[in-house]
Amino acid sequence: MSTLAISTAREVFDLLRDDLTAIETELGRDAVSSVDTITEIAEYLRVGGGKRIRPSLLLLAARCLGYTGSGMIRLGAVVELVHTATLVHDDIIDGADTRRGRPSANTTWGNEKCVLAGDWLYMQAFHVALEERNFKVLDLLISLTQQMVEGELLQIQKLGRAISEAEYYDLIFRKTACLFSVSMQLGATLAEADPIQEEALASYGRAVGLAFQIVDDVLDLTATEDVLGKPVASDLREGKTTLPVIHSLEHGTANDRLVIGRVLEDGGFLRTTREQVQEILHRNGSVAYAMAAADRYAERAREALVTLEESEFKRALLWVPDFVVARDK
Ligand code: IPE
Ligand code: IPE
Ligand code: MG
Ligand code: MG
Repeated sequence: MSTLAISTAREVFDLLRDDLTAIETELGRDAVSSVDTITEIAEYLRVGGGKRIRPSLLLLAARCLGYTGSGMIRLGAVVELVHTATLVHDDIIDGADTRRGRPSANTTWGNEKCVLAGDWLYMQAFHVALEERNFKVLDLLISLTQQMVEGELLQIQKLGRAISEAEYYDLIFRKTACLFSVSMQLGATLAEADPIQEEALASYGRAVGLAFQIVDDVLDLTATEDVLGKPVASDLREGKTTLPVIHSLEHGTANDRLVIGRVLEDGGFLRTTREQVQEILHRNGSVAYAMAAADRYAERAREALVTLEESEFKRALLWVPDFVVARDK
């Protein structure tokens, strides 16, 4: 690997190729239950793909501190399993019919089976994590799971009303950034990081995770389902006010507020079109405002790494925030 900055997904993938392949093998082993329906659902989710960004971050955190053991393969699978469990439950809660370009699991198996499959996946994640025989690992994973569930619950409580930016950031920290941060901390824990290194990696994860969810929320408003592989324009329909919408509600005209309010009230685009909402967001500079916030978190993430020793893994970590803000799915 050259000493030049790592600047493409391919270079990062090459760097992690063997580890990611090993994680896929581990995930294959972990998707097996003695009850066929669970195996079917777990296997369907596993082969559905996904960006594997959380395990990649865990690997980079561990490796940039010099760790080379097999714990990162197991824990890489663990964070992907936790992520998968939250997606299964999230799609039930959101009533989403598509995920990763295919029918969501709840569409195929129904909500009842998928609630249970999600529970099973959570416990499978803990089962694999237990193999580390490390209480700190369990402590991190337990707090994480509680934060994520609390985040989804708070979101339900706030549905249909305009929330403040502070409430928005609290929500997206819990439901998304916390897992990014814990993925980094788990990598740091395996590498027996000192508290300063661990905090640097944790705050990197937090910042990348916040940027990631802001971009996810922008894409919900601007992307197409074909590219995204999951429903678009769904947040507003579900009554979720995300950062661009919060901005337009605060800075738009009285009529803008009325138009957006109708979608929230109706729980769908009955009296307003998605294009009308997009026009409002663009006219008020709300998409640009949200992307600027994502850029700031991306920068904050890179800054968090200043004290870490130079390596190709650190360079890959420096690249990830760019990928997160520039992605289209
Ligand atoms: C989707 O996460 C859920 C959010 C936190 C927005 P990803 O976009 O990482 O989903 P996959 O794993 O790549 O499908
Ligand atoms: C992220 O929120 C949900 C989880 C952390 C599971 P979203 O509801 O925006 O995620 P997507 O858009 O369905 O992937
Ligand atoms: Mg959702
Ligand atoms: Mg979303």
